[in-house]
Amino acid sequence: MKFRLKNGADIPAVGFGTWQMASSDAPDAVADAVRVGYRHIDCASIYENEKAVGKGLARAFESGVARDELFITSKVWNSDRGYDTTLRALERTLGDLGLEYLDLYLIHWPANAKQFENWREINDATWRALVQAQKDGKVRAIGLSNFLPHHIEPLMDAQIQPMVNQIEFHPGFLQSDVVQYCKEREIVVEAWSPLGSGRVLQDATLGAIAQKHGKSVAQICIRFCLQSGVVALPKSVTPARIAENLAVFDFALDADDMNKIAQMPEIGYSGLHPDKVDF
Ligand code: A2P
Repeated sequence: MKFRLKNGADIPAVGFGTWQMASSDAPDAVADAVRVGYRHIDCASIYENEKAVGKGLARAFESGVARDELFITSKVWNSDRGYDTTLRALERTLGDLGLEYLDLYLIHWPANAKQFENWREINDATWRALVQAQKDGKVRAIGLSNFLPHHIEPLMDAQIQPMVNQIEFHPGFLQSDVVQYCKEREIVVEAWSPLGSGRVLQDATLGAIAQKHGKSVAQICIRFCLQSGVVALPKSVTPARIAENLAVFDFALDADDMNKIAQMPEIGYSGLHPDKVDF
């Protein structure tokens, strides 16, 4: 299953997350993920494992998977914001991952008003670097992460508009206003922590829905993303879970399941608010 970006490219609806993945685990986990069928890998320089992820990718390529079969994302970290620094960060990421180009490059967090009086200018300069990188063919698509509508709005007049916004999204934390804003502007929403980083897996409502379908709670969370039109990026280093998280295409949640999940009280929120974080 794929979603379509504004540039006409397809993005696989389930991607393999690499946040909180130790470098010692990443080569095996990434190679295994590609072996069992993942075609989308989500990375970031701040995860401090891109060299190790690159080793896993190299193994996937050795096994016969072609570069253009994979959709690979990375993100520019906060300390690299700005035009020149972003372009340098991209080169470093490409080198670490061992790639000639990325399929998608994101601004990891918006500069916010709490930290910067000139937050708009900073985001603007970082965005101009991404536009340039796309023009140069170093990245195929560009987007945002953790941007709220008031951070996105100033970028809608740019030469290239954001194609993606990757936000925290899972049962118990849906950010419906952000999702709706993005959908109205054809910005594909991606879910980080689609399992609430494990914090929602014991929930009774989700447990009952999982039992009804003979699926795991993790699979219900991932399926909920897909049926909400949101890309899911589950992370695991456990082979059985890596496979399980991709086995979500042989069942569907019904309207009642979707409503029950939509109405769940807030659970599993990371507490990371884009206007309040100070990193
Ligand atoms: P592990 O990597 O040890 O397998 P998220 O993607 O929301 O950030 O969640 C990642 C967390 O959820 C990790 O701790 C991961 O553990 C765990 N996890 C991933 N997939 C599953 C699964 N299918 N069942 C239970 N826990 C899972």
